[in-house]
Amino acid sequence: MSKVVTLNEFILDRQDDFPFATGELSRLLNDIALASKIVNRDVNRAGLVDILGAQGNTNVQGEEQQKLDVIADEAFIKAFENGGEVCGIASEENDDFVAFESEAAMNGKYVVLFDPLDGSSNIDVNVSIGTIFSIYRRKSAIGTKATLEDMLQKGTEQVAAGYVIYGSSTMLVYTTGKGVNGFTLDPSIGEFCLSHPDIKAPETGRLYAINEGNLNRCHPGLKDYCEYVRQDDPSTGRPYSGRYIGSLVADVHRNLIKGGVYVYPSTTNSPEGKLRLIYECNPLAFIIEQAGGLATDGKNRIMEIEPKRLHQRVDYYAGSKQMVEKIHECLRAAE
Ligand code: AHG
Ligand code: MN
Ligand code: MN
Ligand code: MN
Repeated sequence: MSKVVTLNEFILDRQDDFPFATGELSRLLNDIALASKIVNRDVNRAGLVDILGAQGNTNVQGEEQQKLDVIADEAFIKAFENGGEVCGIASEENDDFVAFESEAAMNGKYVVLFDPLDGSSNIDVNVSIGTIFSIYRRKSAIGTKATLEDMLQKGTEQVAAGYVIYGSSTMLVYTTGKGVNGFTLDPSIGEFCLSHPDIKAPETGRLYAINEGNLNRCHPGLKDYCEYVRQDDPSTGRPYSGRYIGSLVADVHRNLIKGGVYVYPSTTNSPEGKLRLIYECNPLAFIIEQAGGLATDGKNRIMEIEPKRLHQRVDYYAGSKQMVEKIHECLRAAE
């Protein structure tokens, strides 16, 4: 049997990747792993204890908050607040960003932006859900309170990003800008173990993920693309297969491993798109690009968009390079 490498060991081994590193980023990644184990435990017990279903509140996104949205949000915030590496956070579930007030936290170098539980609508029906995170170096001075400017940085400034998928197994996938690595939680020892070293997204694939129910409400080029994927052409593997889970993390993870494209365009109902730039699109774009794929708003690189607001939404086209390029072609042709 080959040697098992735990996430902890892997992070320590990679510490030299960061010149002048003091180990804070490594500790922060470990805090995330710990919080995700707590959420994983709760997700696993969800049918047994009373944590399924709606919380009874609407969040700032206008969505009905699920109990697990709130549980996951609190678990991650607590981990960041107590860890001492993070001076503030912003989360999909909170109206405003949070600047931690303890002296230790104010000395933290980093901010984390996150979607505590992605795919909320799938919780009650036992379908994969996830957590998405994005780490930035703060802009404000160390020792002071975090500011909005710390939160509103371009995706290109991310120092690390990743996701956890609570699926048939639980995985943590992350990048610090030197490739993408995936770790599977071994529940018998409670450790994430390296299972997917150096993930590379296939250049092309035959899976497409789009909520086709929205087709009449979005850019006409997408109708043309959906026609294209249905045509018979063995040389390109068409017809492609439609796969849409409705949990961004799970759809992106599958496409990363198997090759595919994920599309969430703006619609007449959501003219700015549905997915959130800083909590969902940027971190996954960093992962996808590091794996060799593309993530755009239909024209421009997601990570180069200047965020103007915390909960800003954006059109999202992400996955295997050639497939995203083909969609760009359809969008341009229909303009
Ligand atoms: P969240 O559960 O974090 O609010 O995210 C939901 C997102 C994303 O996970 C998913 O891909 C998309 O919403 C699904 O939207 P539709 O139901 O409109 O297809
Ligand atoms: Mn939500
Ligand atoms: Mn989400
Ligand atoms: Mn969410």
